[in-house]
Amino acid sequence: MSLYYGAVVFAHVVSAVISVGPLFLLLPLIRRLRTAKREAEDIYLAIIRVVIRLVMHSGHALVVTGVLLILFGPWPWHSSWVILTLAVMLLSAVFLATGFSSVLKKFHESGNDRQSTLDKLQRTSWIYIGLLLIMLWLMVQKPSIW
Ligand code: HEM
Repeated sequence: MSLYYGAVVFAHVVSAVISVGPLFLLLPLIRRLRTAKREAEDIYLAIIRVVIRLVMHSGHALVVTGVLLILFGPWPWHSSWVILTLAVMLLSAVFLATGFSSVLKKFHESGNDRQSTLDKLQRTSWIYIGLLLIMLWLMVQKPSIW
């Protein structure tokens, strides 16, 4: 493995860590937000926004380094594990955009049921963690399904 290719694999794995890790912070934050007083609410929401932004940026780094690995590495782009990862990635992008951002925007709108908004946020976090773990498995195991 050349030094440059090794560096890209390293950057890819670091972005994977930053994409998955902070998501586990969301769950206790959402739990606290359920019973938070009005003043504390904005602080929790601000932290949740930072976590989501971090996950989004490292997700972009993950795709860019992943594409570089395909371009310069030994793995053909049509390997089943690469195609499946790309498919799950598309699904996750939809979840991150529709599930997280819109829910956060809705939080302060009047007439919205706070608990159901938080339920949706929690559900979205679990689904997103699940999708990332599936991609992690595909990457590490590299199964040839077809
Ligand atoms: C656009 C999507 C992606 C592409 C094209 C891609 C491509 C690749 C390639 C070609 C390798 C093999 C490097 C090598 O060993 O020579 C790799 C490794 C790896 N990828 Fe991805 N990747 C993508 C997304 C992801 C995602 C979403 C995750 C995690 C959630 C991830 C985590 C990893 C990890 C942990 C490794 C190291 C596994 C190992 O080689 O033992 N990748 N990736």
